Amino acid sequence: MEERLQKILAKAGIASRRRAEELIREGRIKLNGLVVHEMGCRADPARDIITCDGTPINLERKIYLLLNKPKGYVTTLSDPQGRPIVSDLVADISLRLFPVGRLDLDTEGALLMTNDGELGNAILHPSFEVNKTYEAMVTGSPTQERLRLLEQGIAIDGVRTSPAKIKVLQRRKDRTLVEIIIHEGKKRQVRKMFQAIDHRVLHLKRTAYGDLRIGELPVGKYRILTPFDLKKIFSGKIPFTIKNIPA
Ligand code: URA
Repeated sequence: MEERLQKILAKAGIASRRRAEELIREGRIKLNGLVVHEMGCRADPARDIITCDGTPINLERKIYLLLNKPKGYVTTLSDPQGRPIVSDLVADISLRLFPVGRLDLDTEGALLMTNDGELGNAILHPSFEVNKTYEAMVTGSPTQERLRLLEQGIAIDGVRTSPAKIKVLQRRKDRTLVEIIIHEGKKRQVRKMFQAIDHRVLHLKRTAYGDLRIGELPVGKYRILTPFDLKKIFSGKIPFTIKNIPA
């Protein structure tokens, strides 16, 4: 299908549409071997060879990034209620990225975004058991016995959760900071698990996917992931079915 060259370049993540126009003006874009001079030029990426500085553009380029999602952002690509969406925070990347899994509106922290459906599905697929680490500030002071219930698996919405790993990070007078590691992704799972032991989650943050930690990444910012980072998500147990992680 033919599209304007600027749009094709933007989709391929080469540049924004405005910057793509500059690239054309600078004579850096060739279509089937000839420098493009005309701004309205159209092409079909399935048929035509488009190059930027001599390098063929690749519409299939896969990109992976880790966003530190702020509270108040919806993990969808559009929101009928007009609330801020996570895509707004990665709008300078022209490729269509989707979030891997979801975080509640009031949860912050690590959110992977990619245009690689295969990798996204693998991370979410229960068989790969990718750990997700959360820090939950909960009301009161949960006893070791109650926390053990979460470690063993507890019924939420009539289904038993898989065993969780739990570590108390800090006990304060009226609240406790708990690290919880789970590999499932049921809706509002962490909140419901604590609710099941009579403690309310006051604040929730995802700090890691597997061994890939959010670290010092500022809230609302993202970083592009390397193949090394992607391997960390699977904590060294990379599913051989995933083609897109270079060795
Ligand atoms: N568990 C929750 O309760 N909320 C999230 O956003 C993620 C995990």
